Amino acid sequence: MIISPTDLEITDLEADAIVVGVDAQGTLTQEAREIDAATGGLLARLVAQEEISGKLGKVGILLAPPGLRAGQVAVVGLGESRQFGRGQAFRAAAAAAKRLAERRRRRVAFFLGDGWSEQQVESGICGAMVGCRGQDLYRTEKNLHAFEEILWDDAYETVLASGRILGESVNLTRQLVNEPPSRIYPESFAAEAEKFAEEFGLGIEVWDEQRLEEERCHALLAVARGSSRPPRLVILSHRGGGPDDPILALVGKGVTFDSGGLSIKPTDSMKTMKCDMAGAATVFGVMQAVARLELPVNVIGLAGLVENMVGGNAYKVGDVISARSGKTIEVLNTDAEGRLVLADVLDLALERKANRIIDLATLTGACMVALGTDVAGLMTNDQPWCDAVRQAADDCGEAVWQLPMFPDCYDEQIQSKVADIKNVGEGRWGGAITAAKFLEQFVGKTPWTHVDIAGPAFLENPKPWLDAGGTGVFVRTLVEVARRWTAEMNDA
Ligand code: BES
Ligand code: MN
Ligand code: ZN
Repeated sequence: MIISPTDLEITDLEADAIVVGVDAQGTLTQEAREIDAATGGLLARLVAQEEISGKLGKVGILLAPPGLRAGQVAVVGLGESRQFGRGQAFRAAAAAAKRLAERRRRRVAFFLGDGWSEQQVESGICGAMVGCRGQDLYRTEKNLHAFEEILWDDAYETVLASGRILGESVNLTRQLVNEPPSRIYPESFAAEAEKFAEEFGLGIEVWDEQRLEEERCHALLAVARGSSRPPRLVILSHRGGGPDDPILALVGKGVTFDSGGLSIKPTDSMKTMKCDMAGAATVFGVMQAVARLELPVNVIGLAGLVENMVGGNAYKVGDVISARSGKTIEVLNTDAEGRLVLADVLDLALERKANRIIDLATLTGACMVALGTDVAGLMTNDQPWCDAVRQAADDCGEAVWQLPMFPDCYDEQIQSKVADIKNVGEGRWGGAITAAKFLEQFVGKTPWTHVDIAGPAFLENPKPWLDAGGTGVFVRTLVEVARRWTAEMNDA
């Protein structure tokens, strides 16, 4: 996709479509007023008649408008101007793009940036790129047709460039999640990482079964045992900072398919379990962005890649495994596999001297029961670090909510009678938190925030601004965390 700036007059621009905005009060933006003038007041009339709405993400279309060289105008609702931020910029541009992508378009020009901050423009460009891509990877007749060219009015080259990098990173994550498990399994997933690591100059290590054995990753290996697909562990590194600068570690759950193992899931619950590698795909998206943005920070991305299957060699209910850290774990449900994989990867993050850790995982259905499908759960051992993650998410418009980690209420629940800990809580109550309590056992005293993305990583039904399937949620937020980490260090 080509992305270029334009400073042509809106009426002179040749494009398949032009996008302009109107806010919830029905106020036309500067560029929309120009369209209105060119069309003899048509736009204002349609808004007054409430044929065109300013509700965030609503899109009205003017076909073959007089006085313009463009084929059509999409008028997108920007919502309440008081609440307008990066999230709204992303959604508005994405909604317009998604609607226009229903047909093939060569060139679409966005005239939305009037009064927007650079960060909002960047989010808008990212949104335009994300909105026009669909999950229809294997449909002969596509539902959405990505544009050949996006024009953005009056944007700085640097903002266009970073918006494009964010858009491509979110789309990378989405595509990896949307690929079927027959295509994305641990080996092929690691190969994808190798491809972009090479292209963008990231350091990469890929551990195979033998190395995983040598490194005592017995928890990860236990999960992998039921599958004919061997596991992998991927370590990406971006050394943008100095050798003594702190290290931010991003850890992702990469279960390329979660059948539940012997504690097998019913078909309906298995239907979306290709998405169980979304945490790892998110880490990959962020690492690609961090490298391409050349952020002057040290970031490592670690992903545990396994398939959770049934088979004669599968790990069993009642098994006791000894994790990389040395802690022993009693397995009481083979469907609580994500925490086992993460246990070993988090331990490796400590060994690699991470100063701060964020892990991303489609970890629990319980988190969806607690927060619904659109909100990620945050759990932490360090409130200031969690606050930093939350603030970045709020500013990017990605919904998060923190869940408590009270020691008195939850610590006992993961105690085992035969091993150090067990991989499930007592009964199903508080399941998102008992899972996080398990992970907490493997991060020592390092500030750590766990993000349970079981809900928002994958959409069963499309939104006006996003096709169903993988969402790429949290790529933008984590890039923002890395950027702030840069600023923080420069202050120090
Ligand atoms: N991958 C699932 C969690 C999940 C559920 C992600 C729905 C996305 C959508 C995870 O491995 C799992 O199966 N968790 C169990 C844990 C339980 C056995 C303690 C769950 O949530 O039921
Ligand atoms: Mn599971
Ligand atoms: Zn899982």
